[in-house]
Amino acid sequence: MVRKAIIPVAGLGTRFLPVTKSIPKNMIPVLDHPALHYAVAEAAEAGIRDIMFVVSKNQETVERYFQNNAELEDALDSRGNTSRADEMRAIARMVNVSTVLQEQQLGLGHAVLMAREIIGDEPFAVFLPDDIIWGAMPTIGSMIEQYREHGSNVIAVKDVPDSAVPFLGIVDGRPVSDSEYVLSGMVEKPSLENAPSNLAIIGRYVLSPEIFDILERVEPGAVGEIQLTDAIKVMMENPGVRAYRFPGRHFDVGTPAGLLKASIHAALQRDEMKDDIVEWMKLAIAEHGR
Ligand code: G1P
Repeated sequence: MVRKAIIPVAGLGTRFLPVTKSIPKNMIPVLDHPALHYAVAEAAEAGIRDIMFVVSKNQETVERYFQNNAELEDALDSRGNTSRADEMRAIARMVNVSTVLQEQQLGLGHAVLMAREIIGDEPFAVFLPDDIIWGAMPTIGSMIEQYREHGSNVIAVKDVPDSAVPFLGIVDGRPVSDSEYVLSGMVEKPSLENAPSNLAIIGRYVLSPEIFDILERVEPGAVGEIQLTDAIKVMMENPGVRAYRFPGRHFDVGTPAGLLKASIHAALQRDEMKDDIVEWMKLAIAEHGR
């Protein structure tokens, strides 16, 4: 059973300056929830109970968002807005959260290693909250099932265009079903010539705790950082690594344009907003479209 997840949120969020001068990047909203909410909700839906955020300084708002705010809840109750108050309480009930400080941002692999003590000797999930996935089922839940069935590490992947390849982790593998691969290679941020495929790692992982010993030893790789991809690669022979090409809709909210697209997608799922947004989009296309 996978009960714990690591969510790295440290980092300057330079693509979102000036907002990130005072607000952690993952607290910027996608429609009306912080981007981070979506990863945590996915985790909770898949039965994960404990979330460890790897934070940098001045990110207290991250933990606070997932805790009770009794004053706010009481104020909403006393104004008769009990459904809103209940909604706020439900956020605090989703998961237990804790934080660990990553003083220096030495890479994703390093961030994961920071949570070693709290994870202990059990399999765990990693979520990169810049990747939001909407689907009928929580993607991580399907990956946990596969981990249970095969005992291999599992990473989420999707097909990406050539232009995206040099910015992502790219895998090489043999399909074993419509959506699953057994991996034989993976490379972080390859040049297009060196990329084994167009199948890219998206920020969902189910990992065995052996990874921590490997992360202690792994040398800095692509862009001079300690890469999670390099550590996972070491486990390819034993106990193995599988990739899951998930069926959901994925958005990279790590860029302003991606964040906006995700917000629009979220708005189009809401009955009370959908018509208004579609009407406005038609006008915008008439004005700017080709
Ligand atoms: C990280 C991973 C990379 C993966 C990507 C997905 O890269 O290292 O393998 O493809 O997330 O979002 P980053 O975006 O941190 O550079």
